Amino acid sequence: MTISIIGSGKVGASIALNCGLRELDPKIYLVDIIEGLPQGEAMDINHQLSVQGLDSYLIGTNDFGVIRNSDIIILVAGVGRKPGMTRMDLLKTNASIVKDVSSKISQYNTQSNLIVVTNPLDPMTYLALKTTKYPKNKVMGMGGMLDLSRFASFIHDYTKISRESISAMVISEHGEKMLPLIRFSSISGIPLTNFINETQSKEIYEKTKQVAAEVIKLKGATVYAPGNAVSIMAEAIVKDKKRLIPLSAYLDGEYGVKDVCIGVPAVVGRNGIEKIIELPLNDFERKEFEQGVKNVSEAISILPS
Ligand code: 2OP
Repeated sequence: MTISIIGSGKVGASIALNCGLRELDPKIYLVDIIEGLPQGEAMDINHQLSVQGLDSYLIGTNDFGVIRNSDIIILVAGVGRKPGMTRMDLLKTNASIVKDVSSKISQYNTQSNLIVVTNPLDPMTYLALKTTKYPKNKVMGMGGMLDLSRFASFIHDYTKISRESISAMVISEHGEKMLPLIRFSSISGIPLTNFINETQSKEIYEKTKQVAAEVIKLKGATVYAPGNAVSIMAEAIVKDKKRLIPLSAYLDGEYGVKDVCIGVPAVVGRNGIEKIIELPLNDFERKEFEQGVKNVSEAISILPS
């Protein structure tokens, strides 16, 4: 399988590095319109992979045509979130970029898997799906996997139990109405509520929702965790793992929702989204999820057609 990453800023480069570290493909293309940047990033990453004995080779290029034979295209092009901004503040700027890049993608390639990373994630996934006209199982947005990594990190901080034992789940909007699911998270299968009390649960819930803004305030961008999260999704496709991953998917009746892309758990394999898992949400979770759907629907309604 061949992977192309469109956008070679910090997150694009981190995705490239993480795909290389997982040895996902002998050749990974890093594409950007900025001359020199993808080439420089590719060289730097190759130098690291070289001494690690990993045979994934990064190719940096300004030629969009390389995506022609890609089985996985990762769309990271767009502007990143700045301190004090919400993800939705990027809607107008990134919509025109994502629309433009998506229509170029479909000119060169009609049958790839497409992983969208640009924010605001759920509306951009929807826009990419509609613009490329790819089948709905082939277009997924990376949000939940990243939110999950933060949720799991806080669970470890509070319980001090090995990160290896922690299993966490976050669904809904990759934005203000993100929904960390305490009830569907566990430590080696034992419900989280056996390890933390209600106050701690609430703290972890809120911290998971806020922490990206904190990282951005401190260092200007989130880089490593997003790169890793995307590479987990790419790995599930390349290795046909059938891994259960929360991601932004197009809903066509699942969760009682239609014509919206939003975070839900899904089984990911060679055919992209192979199954959407519907969780039995309680009243609180259902209300929060519906708020997330509302936020995304409102954003979608003002997207360029
Ligand atoms: C993140 O959550 C900014 O959406 C990006 O790291």
